[in-house]
Amino acid sequence: MKLIVVKDYEEMSCRAARIIAAQVLKKSDSVLGLATGSTPIGTYRCLIEFYRKKLLDFRTIKTVNLDEYHGLSQTHPQSFRFFMEENFFQHVNLRTSNIHMPEGKAVDPEQETVRYGKLIDSLGGIDLQMLGIGLNGHIGFNEPDDTFSRTVTCVELTQSTIEAYSRFFENTDDVPRRAYTMGIATIMQAKELLLLASGAEKREIIQQAVYGPITTRVPASVLQLHPNVTVITDESAGALL
Ligand code: F6R
Repeated sequence: MKLIVVKDYEEMSCRAARIIAAQVLKKSDSVLGLATGSTPIGTYRCLIEFYRKKLLDFRTIKTVNLDEYHGLSQTHPQSFRFFMEENFFQHVNLRTSNIHMPEGKAVDPEQETVRYGKLIDSLGGIDLQMLGIGLNGHIGFNEPDDTFSRTVTCVELTQSTIEAYSRFFENTDDVPRRAYTMGIATIMQAKELLLLASGAEKREIIQQAVYGPITTRVPASVLQLHPNVTVITDESAGALL
């Protein structure tokens, strides 16, 4: 694991954006694995700036997102698709046909997990996957459990995740109880991983993920086994690293 602790959220975001930008420049048909949540917003902002300065061209880039709420349509303001449109997709020249996410409103969840898993495989796998980390150590929505999930699954969200995500909804009851997520195997198959964390509340969990025992109870700890991971944190989240 390569650890980079920088001053603040802005610097974390720019460092991450530079790594993604290098991937885009290196391989114009790269498959980028993207994340939602508060953590990557600044990274998307930097990437949009690079695009506006004509440093980057996303025309032939493909994207796959880590996860999506079960039951929310793409146009639902709290869906991850909506978030991605607002924070990234609509600001760059990605082709809609190259943007891939689980379909929250799919009629058959089981079939949707198979479709999305096959789709990622058909793209030749993920070149660079960006990840945030949940307060309980989740990556994607791979929650602490007795086993690591393999490919794409539709999971029950834990109470801690529901509470963490209630900030995006009017009240906790509105947070979907299930979500589609790439499995741990899907994430581990990515050629390169970029884990970001900021803020003091992530301090303990990022320490456990990086230095603690590898355990299904802290899903992010599995990243210690990946040969090409960069962890970037701000000073607050990285204080124990
Ligand atoms: C989001 C995702 C989640 C988040 C994690 C941290 O697509 O996969 O694992 O990265 O919940 O969320 P924030 O960044 O809001 O703290």
